[in-house]
Amino acid sequence: MSSQLLTVINDNYQAVKNDGQDVIAGLKKSPKSLPPKYFYDDRGSELFEDICQLPEYYPTRTEASILEEYADEIAQLTGCCELVELGSGSSTKTRLLLDAYQKVGGSFRYVPTDVSGGILKNSVLELKEKYPNFSIEGFIGTYDETLAHLKSNPTPTSFVGTSLNRTICFLGSSVGNFPPEELDRFLNQVTDASKPGNYFLLGIDLQKPKEILEPAYNDSQGVTAAFNLNMLSHLNWRFQGNFDLDLFTHKAIYNQEKSQIEMRLYCQENVTFSLEILDLKVDFEKGESILTEVSRKFDLAVIQTEMETKGLKVKKVWTDPKKWFGLILCQA
Ligand code: AVI
Repeated sequence: MSSQLLTVINDNYQAVKNDGQDVIAGLKKSPKSLPPKYFYDDRGSELFEDICQLPEYYPTRTEASILEEYADEIAQLTGCCELVELGSGSSTKTRLLLDAYQKVGGSFRYVPTDVSGGILKNSVLELKEKYPNFSIEGFIGTYDETLAHLKSNPTPTSFVGTSLNRTICFLGSSVGNFPPEELDRFLNQVTDASKPGNYFLLGIDLQKPKEILEPAYNDSQGVTAAFNLNMLSHLNWRFQGNFDLDLFTHKAIYNQEKSQIEMRLYCQENVTFSLEILDLKVDFEKGESILTEVSRKFDLAVIQTEMETKGLKVKKVWTDPKKWFGLILCQA
């Protein structure tokens, strides 16, 4: 068997066929909206990696700075375990945690998970080389599929067959892209997938002045604008559309009342576009917008209470000195 075959648990993964019903529903709504998952085709994923390097986009480096300082403490608190990372991408920041688990010693297993099988397999191969004493296997799937898999496989085992405690981690404040009802559902799924004693490590972006937030989502190099507009090119190739990207402009504003960044694309003319495969025609009036993403900014006390009500007991919270970003470790 080639080592490529040993990189993921479910190599036969078949994505549920995307029939675009969510696109139709969003574009028929008033005001129009589109699900943020359509940011992430190959180009979109590359643009997101570029966003993470931008001087204005503070979340990635702030979360990394917290991990640099506290990864050892996190690893000591959870002890050697199976670490399952939701939406791991290239696992860049997670290496700080893996280095810390290496120091703890003992049996450790890492399960990065992502919908993008290609990136996942490459990163597993790289990590296996860097951490030869860890058991590392990826899982291809959405959050829903991954949490359902964990629920039906509650007792992970080490290389030598002994059972391991499990830690689920979800970094980067991706929970901020869930509207409140979706976050509620997500936390229920995490609780459902956890046995008593299992850990959950969550990265969240915290509330801060609009003067810091808005530039982070309207960067001076226009990378976030390109990322936002790329959603329309994604729809064009996926559903045979004819959106003219030159007729749309990007803008992100901070909605203080809802404590969330709202990212939109504004249409500059009265115009009609179509998505052939979806048999859909969409009329735009000049100035009309599509909401493409919300990015919620959390209050540490409120989110902790929410986690506690789900049966996830907060063990420890870490922040950076400016309190821009938080890491919360809970135990089921
Ligand atoms: C993936 N997610 C946490 C990013 C965020 O900050 O909400 C997505 C993003 N959108 C624009 N810039 C970054």
